[in-house]
Amino acid sequence: MTQRGAAPFDPLAAVNLPGLDTPLAMRLAERIAERGPITFAEWMEACLYDSEHGYYRRGVPTVGRDGDFLTSPEVHPLFGASVGQVISELWRGKPLTVVEVGPGSGAMAESILRQLHATSADVASELSYVLVEPDAAAAERTRSRLSQVHEARRLQFCSAIAEMPSADLVVANELLDALPVHRLVARAGAWREIYVDCSRALGFHDWEWELSDGSLLDPLMGVEPSEGQIVEVSPLRAEIVESLAGRVCDGGLLLLFDYGYERSRLYASWRREGTLMTFRKHVPGDDPYVSPGETDITCHVDIDQVSEAAEGAGLRALPSRSQAEWLHDLGAAVLPSVADAGGDRSRYLAARRAAETLTDPAGLGRVAVMGFVRGEVASLSGWRGYV
Ligand SMILES: C[S@@+](CC[C@H](N)C(=O)[O-])C[C@H]1O[C@@H](n2cnc3c(N)ncnc32)[C@H](O)[C@@H]1O
Repeated sequence: MTQRGAAPFDPLAAVNLPGLDTPLAMRLAERIAERGPITFAEWMEACLYDSEHGYYRRGVPTVGRDGDFLTSPEVHPLFGASVGQVISELWRGKPLTVVEVGPGSGAMAESILRQLHATSADVASELSYVLVEPDAAAAERTRSRLSQVHEARRLQFCSAIAEMPSADLVVANELLDALPVHRLVARAGAWREIYVDCSRALGFHDWEWELSDGSLLDPLMGVEPSEGQIVEVSPLRAEIVESLAGRVCDGGLLLLFDYGYERSRLYASWRREGTLMTFRKHVPGDDPYVSPGETDITCHVDIDQVSEAAEGAGLRALPSRSQAEWLHDLGAAVLPSVADAGGDRSRYLAARRAAETLTDPAGLGRVAVMGFVRGEVASLSGWRGYV
Protein backbone atom coordinates (compact mmCIF):
# COMPACT_ATOMS: atom_id res chain seq x y z
CA MET A 1 0.00 0.00 0.00
CA THR A 2 1.40 3.41 -0.91
CA GLN A 3 1.74 5.68 2.10
CA ARG A 4 -0.66 8.59 2.37
CA GLY A 5 1.88 11.12 3.65
CA ALA A 6 0.58 11.50 7.24
CA ALA A 7 2.79 11.18 10.33
CA PRO A 8 2.89 7.58 11.64
CA PHE A 9 -0.11 6.92 13.84
CA ASP A 10 0.57 5.74 17.37
CA PRO A 11 -2.47 3.75 18.56
CA LEU A 12 -1.22 3.46 22.12
CA ALA A 13 -1.04 7.21 22.46
CA ALA A 14 -4.61 7.46 21.22
CA VAL A 15 -6.53 5.10 23.46
CA ASN A 16 -9.23 7.64 24.18
CA LEU A 17 -10.11 8.33 20.58
CA PRO A 18 -13.68 7.53 19.61
CA GLY A 19 -13.83 4.07 18.04
CA LEU A 20 -10.67 2.84 19.78
CA ASP A 21 -12.84 1.31 22.47
CA THR A 22 -12.40 -2.43 21.98
CA PRO A 23 -9.42 -4.82 22.05
CA LEU A 24 -9.88 -5.41 18.32
CA ALA A 25 -9.83 -1.65 17.64
CA MET A 26 -6.37 -1.42 19.17
CA ARG A 27 -5.16 -4.33 17.11
CA LEU A 28 -6.56 -2.90 13.89
CA ALA A 29 -5.11 0.54 14.62
CA GLU A 30 -1.70 -1.11 15.05
CA ARG A 31 -2.10 -3.02 11.79
CA ILE A 32 -2.95 0.20 9.91
CA ALA A 33 -0.10 2.09 11.58
CA GLU A 34 2.35 -0.58 10.42
CA ARG A 35 1.01 -1.36 6.95
CA GLY A 36 -1.12 1.59 5.89
CA PRO A 37 -4.87 1.61 5.14
CA ILE A 38 -6.64 -1.74 4.73
CA THR A 39 -9.49 -2.67 2.39
CA PHE A 40 -12.98 -2.57 3.89
CA ALA A 41 -13.20 -6.32 3.23
CA GLU A 42 -10.16 -6.86 5.47
CA TRP A 43 -11.71 -4.61 8.11
CA MET A 44 -15.05 -6.47 8.00
CA GLU A 45 -13.36 -9.88 8.02
CA ALA A 46 -11.50 -8.90 11.21
CA CYS A 47 -14.55 -7.28 12.84
CA LEU A 48 -16.75 -10.34 12.29
CA TYR A 49 -14.33 -13.28 12.21
CA ASP A 50 -11.07 -12.43 14.04
CA SER A 51 -10.37 -15.71 15.85
CA GLU A 52 -10.15 -14.02 19.26
CA HIS A 53 -12.14 -10.78 19.10
CA GLY A 54 -14.39 -11.16 16.03
CA TYR A 55 -18.10 -10.50 16.50
CA TYR A 56 -19.03 -14.11 15.59
CA ARG A 57 -16.10 -15.65 17.48
CA ARG A 58 -16.40 -14.14 20.95
CA GLY A 59 -18.81 -16.72 22.32
CA VAL A 60 -21.53 -14.20 23.23
CA PRO A 61 -25.05 -14.33 21.73
CA THR A 62 -25.26 -12.36 18.49
CA VAL A 63 -28.65 -13.34 17.06
CA GLY A 64 -31.91 -13.67 18.97
CA ARG A 65 -33.63 -11.64 21.65
CA ASP A 66 -30.50 -11.61 23.86
CA GLY A 67 -28.28 -10.69 20.92
CA ASP A 68 -28.15 -7.75 18.55
CA PHE A 69 -30.62 -8.66 15.79
CA LEU A 70 -33.34 -11.17 15.05
CA THR A 71 -33.16 -13.77 12.29
CA SER A 72 -36.12 -15.80 11.05
CA PRO A 73 -35.19 -19.06 12.83
CA GLU A 74 -34.98 -17.11 16.11
CA VAL A 75 -38.46 -15.61 15.68
CA HIS A 76 -40.34 -18.89 15.83
CA PRO A 77 -39.98 -22.63 14.96
CA LEU A 78 -42.44 -22.03 12.12
CA PHE A 79 -39.56 -20.91 9.89
CA GLY A 80 -37.46 -24.06 10.43
CA ALA A 81 -40.59 -26.18 10.15
CA SER A 82 -41.13 -24.75 6.66
CA VAL A 83 -37.63 -25.85 5.69
CA GLY A 84 -38.52 -29.24 7.23
CA GLN A 85 -41.45 -29.38 4.82
CA VAL A 86 -39.03 -28.79 1.91
CA ILE A 87 -36.91 -31.70 3.15
CA SER A 88 -39.88 -34.06 3.20
CA GLU A 89 -40.72 -32.96 -0.35
CA LEU A 90 -37.15 -33.74 -1.49
CA TRP A 91 -37.18 -37.19 0.15
CA ARG A 92 -37.18 -40.11 -2.28
CA GLY A 93 -37.57 -42.96 0.20
CA LYS A 94 -33.85 -43.41 0.90
CA PRO A 95 -31.26 -41.91 3.28
CA LEU A 96 -30.76 -38.21 2.73
CA THR A 97 -28.26 -35.57 3.86
CA VAL A 98 -28.92 -31.95 4.75
CA VAL A 99 -26.04 -29.50 5.24
CA GLU A 100 -26.68 -26.22 7.03
CA VAL A 101 -23.94 -23.59 6.74
CA GLY A 102 -23.50 -20.97 9.47
CA PRO A 103 -26.14 -22.31 11.86
CA GLY A 104 -25.72 -19.63 14.55
CA SER A 105 -27.46 -20.85 17.71
CA GLY A 106 -28.84 -23.99 16.01
CA ALA A 107 -32.43 -22.69 16.16
CA MET A 108 -33.24 -23.59 12.55
CA ALA A 109 -31.73 -27.07 12.85
CA GLU A 110 -33.70 -27.72 16.01
CA SER A 111 -37.04 -26.68 14.52
CA ILE A 112 -36.40 -28.59 11.27
CA LEU A 113 -35.61 -31.75 13.22
CA ARG A 114 -38.51 -31.35 15.66
CA GLN A 115 -40.93 -30.84 12.76
CA LEU A 116 -39.69 -33.91 10.90
CA HIS A 117 -39.77 -36.12 14.01
CA ALA A 118 -43.33 -34.95 14.74
CA THR A 119 -44.79 -35.17 11.25
CA SER A 120 -42.53 -37.32 9.01
CA ALA A 121 -40.83 -39.90 11.25
CA ASP A 122 -39.78 -41.97 8.21
CA VAL A 123 -37.84 -38.98 6.79
CA ALA A 124 -36.35 -38.10 10.20
CA SER A 125 -35.08 -41.66 10.71
CA GLU A 126 -33.14 -41.52 7.41
CA LEU A 127 -31.82 -37.98 7.79
CA SER A 128 -28.16 -37.09 8.40
CA TYR A 129 -27.89 -33.44 9.45
CA VAL A 130 -24.51 -31.78 8.92
CA LEU A 131 -23.62 -28.34 10.32
CA VAL A 132 -20.76 -26.21 9.00
CA GLU A 133 -19.63 -24.23 12.03
CA PRO A 134 -16.07 -22.87 12.08
CA ASP A 135 -16.26 -21.92 15.77
CA ALA A 136 -15.46 -24.99 17.91
CA ALA A 137 -17.21 -23.70 21.06
CA ALA A 138 -20.36 -22.82 19.12
CA ALA A 139 -20.31 -26.25 17.49
CA GLU A 140 -20.20 -27.89 20.94
CA ARG A 141 -23.16 -25.82 22.18
CA THR A 142 -25.16 -26.67 19.08
CA ARG A 143 -24.27 -30.36 19.32
CA SER A 144 -25.61 -30.53 22.85
CA ARG A 145 -28.79 -28.63 21.83
CA LEU A 146 -29.49 -30.92 18.88
CA SER A 147 -28.62 -34.21 20.55
CA GLN A 148 -31.83 -33.74 22.59
CA VAL A 149 -33.77 -33.91 19.32
CA HIS A 150 -31.92 -36.15 16.84
CA GLU A 151 -29.80 -39.31 17.03
CA ALA A 152 -26.20 -38.27 17.77
CA ARG A 153 -24.79 -40.56 15.07
CA ARG A 154 -26.86 -38.67 12.48
CA LEU A 155 -25.46 -35.29 13.51
CA GLN A 156 -22.16 -34.21 12.04
CA PHE A 157 -20.08 -31.03 12.35
CA CYS A 158 -17.58 -29.61 9.84
CA SER A 159 -15.36 -26.64 10.59
CA ALA A 160 -15.14 -25.44 6.97
CA ILE A 161 -17.19 -25.45 3.78
CA ALA A 162 -14.33 -27.31 2.06
CA GLU A 163 -14.99 -30.27 4.38
CA MET A 164 -18.73 -30.61 3.88
CA PRO A 165 -20.15 -33.71 2.17
CA SER A 166 -22.46 -33.62 -0.83
CA ALA A 167 -26.10 -33.22 0.13
CA ASP A 168 -29.71 -33.37 -1.01
CA LEU A 169 -30.28 -29.96 0.57
CA VAL A 170 -27.67 -27.29 1.29
CA VAL A 171 -29.29 -24.49 3.26
CA ALA A 172 -28.11 -21.24 4.86
CA ASN A 173 -29.97 -18.39 6.48
CA GLU A 174 -28.28 -14.98 6.37
CA LEU A 175 -24.85 -16.39 5.60
CA LEU A 176 -24.07 -14.31 2.51
CA ASP A 177 -25.09 -10.96 3.97
CA ALA A 178 -22.56 -11.54 6.76
CA LEU A 179 -19.59 -12.02 4.40
CA PRO A 180 -16.95 -9.31 3.90
CA VAL A 181 -17.47 -6.75 1.14
CA HIS A 182 -15.32 -4.19 -0.62
CA ARG A 183 -16.79 -0.67 -0.75
CA LEU A 184 -16.41 1.42 -3.90
CA VAL A 185 -17.34 5.03 -4.52
CA ALA A 186 -18.08 6.75 -7.86
CA ARG A 187 -15.86 9.77 -8.54
CA ALA A 188 -16.00 11.67 -11.84
CA GLY A 189 -17.36 8.67 -13.74
CA ALA A 190 -14.87 6.11 -12.37
CA TRP A 191 -14.86 3.80 -9.36
CA ARG A 192 -12.43 4.30 -6.46
CA GLU A 193 -12.14 1.95 -3.49
CA ILE A 194 -12.83 2.96 0.11
CA TYR A 195 -10.09 1.74 2.45
CA VAL A 196 -9.99 2.12 6.24
CA ASP A 197 -7.40 4.49 7.65
CA CYS A 198 -6.78 5.65 11.21
CA SER A 199 -5.51 9.01 12.42
CA ARG A 200 -5.22 10.87 15.68
CA ALA A 201 -7.68 13.52 14.53
CA LEU A 202 -10.34 11.26 13.04
CA GLY A 203 -9.93 7.80 14.55
CA PHE A 204 -10.95 5.16 11.97
CA HIS A 205 -12.17 6.72 8.76
CA ASP A 206 -12.71 6.19 5.03
CA TRP A 207 -9.75 6.70 2.71
CA GLU A 208 -10.26 6.62 -1.07
CA TRP A 209 -7.67 5.16 -3.40
CA GLU A 210 -7.41 3.09 -6.56
CA LEU A 211 -8.99 -0.38 -6.66
CA SER A 212 -7.16 -3.17 -4.84
CA ASP A 213 -8.23 -5.54 -7.66
CA GLY A 214 -9.68 -4.66 -11.08
CA SER A 215 -12.04 -7.66 -11.01
CA LEU A 216 -14.08 -5.87 -8.31
CA LEU A 217 -15.69 -4.05 -11.24
CA ASP A 218 -17.08 -7.25 -12.83
CA PRO A 219 -20.56 -6.99 -11.28
CA LEU A 220 -20.70 -3.26 -12.05
CA MET A 221 -20.56 -3.49 -15.85
CA GLY A 222 -23.39 -1.34 -17.21
CA VAL A 223 -24.07 0.33 -13.86
CA GLU A 224 -24.38 4.10 -14.24
CA PRO A 225 -23.71 5.51 -10.79
CA SER A 226 -24.49 8.96 -9.51
CA GLU A 227 -21.52 11.06 -8.36
CA GLY A 228 -20.46 9.99 -4.87
CA GLN A 229 -22.59 6.81 -4.90
CA ILE A 230 -21.25 4.02 -2.70
CA VAL A 231 -21.67 0.33 -3.60
CA GLU A 232 -20.56 -2.91 -1.99
CA VAL A 233 -19.17 -5.87 -3.95
CA SER A 234 -18.11 -9.25 -2.60
CA PRO A 235 -16.10 -11.69 -4.74
CA LEU A 236 -16.04 -14.00 -1.69
CA ARG A 237 -19.80 -14.49 -1.90
CA ALA A 238 -19.49 -15.86 -5.45
CA GLU A 239 -16.70 -18.23 -4.34
CA ILE A 240 -18.77 -19.51 -1.43
CA VAL A 241 -21.95 -19.97 -3.47
CA GLU A 242 -19.96 -21.89 -6.08
CA SER A 243 -18.55 -24.20 -3.39
CA LEU A 244 -21.99 -24.78 -1.84
CA ALA A 245 -23.58 -25.39 -5.25
CA GLY A 246 -20.85 -27.89 -6.09
CA ARG A 247 -21.99 -30.05 -3.15
CA VAL A 248 -25.64 -30.34 -4.22
CA CYS A 249 -26.48 -33.92 -5.37
CA ASP A 250 -28.54 -34.77 -8.40
CA GLY A 251 -32.18 -34.07 -7.54
CA GLY A 252 -31.05 -31.74 -4.74
CA LEU A 253 -31.58 -28.10 -3.80
CA LEU A 254 -29.43 -25.16 -2.68
CA LEU A 255 -31.63 -22.90 -0.55
CA LEU A 256 -30.36 -19.48 0.53
CA PHE A 257 -32.18 -16.83 2.54
CA ASP A 258 -30.65 -13.36 2.56
CA TYR A 259 -31.49 -9.70 2.38
CA GLY A 260 -30.74 -8.69 -1.20
CA TYR A 261 -31.90 -7.35 -4.54
CA GLU A 262 -31.34 -7.99 -8.23
CA ARG A 263 -28.34 -6.03 -9.46
CA SER A 264 -30.35 -3.29 -11.19
CA ARG A 265 -32.10 -2.46 -7.90
CA LEU A 266 -29.07 -3.01 -5.65
CA TYR A 267 -26.92 -0.62 -7.64
CA ALA A 268 -29.67 1.84 -8.66
CA SER A 269 -28.27 5.37 -8.82
CA TRP A 270 -30.66 6.63 -6.13
CA ARG A 271 -29.27 4.15 -3.56
CA ARG A 272 -26.45 6.57 -2.86
CA GLU A 273 -25.17 5.17 0.43
CA GLY A 274 -25.12 1.46 -0.46
CA THR A 275 -26.75 -1.02 1.92
CA LEU A 276 -24.27 -1.35 4.77
CA MET A 277 -25.89 -1.50 8.22
CA THR A 278 -24.71 -2.21 11.71
CA PHE A 279 -26.67 -3.69 14.61
CA ARG A 280 -26.09 -3.50 18.31
CA LYS A 281 -28.72 -4.53 20.85
CA HIS A 282 -31.38 -4.33 18.13
CA VAL A 283 -30.48 -0.72 17.30
CA PRO A 284 -29.52 -0.23 13.63
CA GLY A 285 -26.69 2.09 12.65
CA ASP A 286 -24.57 2.99 9.62
CA ASP A 287 -21.08 3.62 11.05
CA PRO A 288 -18.97 0.45 10.66
CA TYR A 289 -16.11 1.98 12.70
CA VAL A 290 -17.94 2.02 16.03
CA SER A 291 -16.87 -0.65 18.54
CA PRO A 292 -15.22 -3.04 16.07
CA GLY A 293 -15.73 -6.69 17.03
CA GLU A 294 -18.72 -5.87 19.20
CA THR A 295 -21.10 -4.66 16.48
CA ASP A 296 -22.67 -6.62 13.65
CA ILE A 297 -21.96 -5.38 10.10
CA THR A 298 -24.13 -6.56 7.21
CA CYS A 299 -24.70 -5.71 3.53
CA HIS A 300 -27.38 -6.75 1.05
CA VAL A 301 -26.64 -9.48 -1.45
CA ASP A 302 -26.49 -9.16 -5.26
CA ILE A 303 -29.05 -11.83 -6.27
CA ASP A 304 -27.74 -11.93 -9.86
CA GLN A 305 -24.23 -12.66 -8.60
CA VAL A 306 -25.58 -15.54 -6.50
CA SER A 307 -27.47 -16.96 -9.52
CA GLU A 308 -24.44 -16.66 -11.81
CA ALA A 309 -22.25 -18.48 -9.28
CA ALA A 310 -24.79 -21.28 -8.69
CA GLU A 311 -25.44 -21.69 -12.42
CA GLY A 312 -21.68 -21.74 -13.03
CA ALA A 313 -21.59 -24.83 -10.80
CA GLY A 314 -24.27 -26.55 -12.88
CA LEU A 315 -27.45 -25.69 -10.94
CA ARG A 316 -30.67 -24.27 -12.36
CA ALA A 317 -32.06 -21.14 -10.74
CA LEU A 318 -35.67 -21.12 -9.58
CA PRO A 319 -37.30 -17.69 -9.54
CA SER A 320 -36.17 -15.70 -6.53
CA ARG A 321 -39.12 -15.17 -4.18
CA SER A 322 -39.69 -12.96 -1.20
CA GLN A 323 -39.86 -14.80 2.12
CA ALA A 324 -43.43 -13.54 2.46
CA GLU A 325 -44.46 -15.22 -0.82
CA TRP A 326 -42.51 -18.38 -0.10
CA LEU A 327 -43.94 -18.79 3.39
CA HIS A 328 -47.45 -18.05 2.23
CA ASP A 329 -47.18 -20.95 -0.20
CA LEU A 330 -45.58 -23.31 2.31
CA GLY A 331 -46.86 -22.03 5.61
CA ALA A 332 -50.44 -23.11 5.11
CA ALA A 333 -49.24 -26.72 5.20
CA VAL A 334 -46.92 -26.19 8.15
CA LEU A 335 -48.71 -23.76 10.48
CA PRO A 336 -51.34 -26.15 11.86
CA SER A 337 -48.78 -28.75 12.95
CA VAL A 338 -46.51 -26.13 14.53
CA ALA A 339 -49.32 -24.23 16.20
CA ASP A 340 -51.25 -27.25 17.40
CA ALA A 341 -50.57 -27.75 21.10
CA GLY A 342 -53.54 -29.84 22.04
CA GLY A 343 -55.84 -26.82 22.09
CA ASP A 344 -53.32 -24.47 23.78
CA ARG A 345 -54.71 -21.14 22.55
CA SER A 346 -51.79 -18.93 23.62
CA ARG A 347 -49.39 -21.15 21.68
CA TYR A 348 -51.60 -20.95 18.65
CA LEU A 349 -51.75 -17.15 18.92
CA ALA A 350 -47.94 -16.94 19.27
CA ALA A 351 -47.53 -18.96 16.08
CA ARG A 352 -50.04 -16.80 14.24
CA ARG A 353 -48.24 -13.66 15.34
CA ALA A 354 -44.88 -15.16 14.30
CA ALA A 355 -46.31 -15.89 10.86
CA GLU A 356 -47.10 -12.18 10.57
CA THR A 357 -43.58 -11.17 11.66
CA LEU A 358 -41.93 -13.64 9.26
CA THR A 359 -44.00 -12.40 6.32
CA ASP A 360 -43.98 -8.66 7.14
CA PRO A 361 -43.19 -7.04 3.77
CA ALA A 362 -41.28 -4.24 5.51
CA GLY A 363 -39.25 -6.65 7.66
CA LEU A 364 -38.31 -10.33 7.43
CA GLY A 365 -40.91 -10.87 4.68
CA ARG A 366 -38.66 -9.05 2.19
CA VAL A 367 -35.74 -11.45 2.69
CA ALA A 368 -34.96 -13.06 -0.68
CA VAL A 369 -35.46 -16.83 -0.94
CA MET A 370 -33.04 -18.12 -3.58
CA GLY A 371 -33.44 -21.72 -4.75
CA PHE A 372 -31.22 -23.63 -7.19
CA VAL A 373 -31.72 -27.25 -8.25
CA ARG A 374 -29.58 -29.90 -9.88
CA GLY A 375 -31.39 -32.03 -12.44
CA GLU A 376 -34.98 -33.12 -11.89
CA VAL A 377 -36.52 -32.24 -8.54
CA ALA A 378 -39.85 -33.27 -7.05
CA SER A 379 -42.51 -30.58 -6.89
CA LEU A 380 -41.68 -27.96 -4.24
CA SER A 381 -44.53 -26.13 -2.50
CA GLY A 382 -42.44 -22.95 -2.22
CA TRP A 383 -42.14 -22.88 -6.04
CA ARG A 384 -45.39 -24.46 -7.11
CA GLY A 385 -45.59 -24.37 -10.90
CA TYR A 386 -41.89 -23.53 -11.34
CA VAL A 387 -40.14 -26.87 -10.70
C1 LIG B 1 -26.10 -13.52 10.43
S1 LIG B 1 -25.47 -14.96 11.17
C2 LIG B 1 -26.83 -16.07 10.86
C3 LIG B 1 -26.87 -17.23 11.83
C4 LIG B 1 -28.03 -18.20 11.62
N1 LIG B 1 -27.99 -18.79 10.31
C5 LIG B 1 -29.36 -17.54 11.84
O1 LIG B 1 -30.09 -17.37 10.89
O2 LIG B 1 -29.66 -17.17 13.00
C6 LIG B 1 -24.24 -15.47 9.99
C7 LIG B 1 -23.52 -16.73 10.39
O3 LIG B 1 -22.72 -17.20 9.28
C8 LIG B 1 -21.54 -17.77 9.82
N2 LIG B 1 -20.49 -17.87 8.80
C9 LIG B 1 -19.86 -16.88 8.14
N3 LIG B 1 -18.95 -17.39 7.29
C10 LIG B 1 -19.00 -18.74 7.39
C11 LIG B 1 -18.33 -19.82 6.78
N4 LIG B 1 -17.37 -19.62 5.86
N5 LIG B 1 -18.65 -21.07 7.15
C12 LIG B 1 -19.63 -21.29 8.05
N6 LIG B 1 -20.31 -20.31 8.69
C13 LIG B 1 -20.00 -19.05 8.37
C14 LIG B 1 -21.21 -16.83 10.97
O4 LIG B 1 -20.31 -17.41 11.87
C15 LIG B 1 -22.59 -16.59 11.57
O5 LIG B 1 -22.91 -17.54 12.53
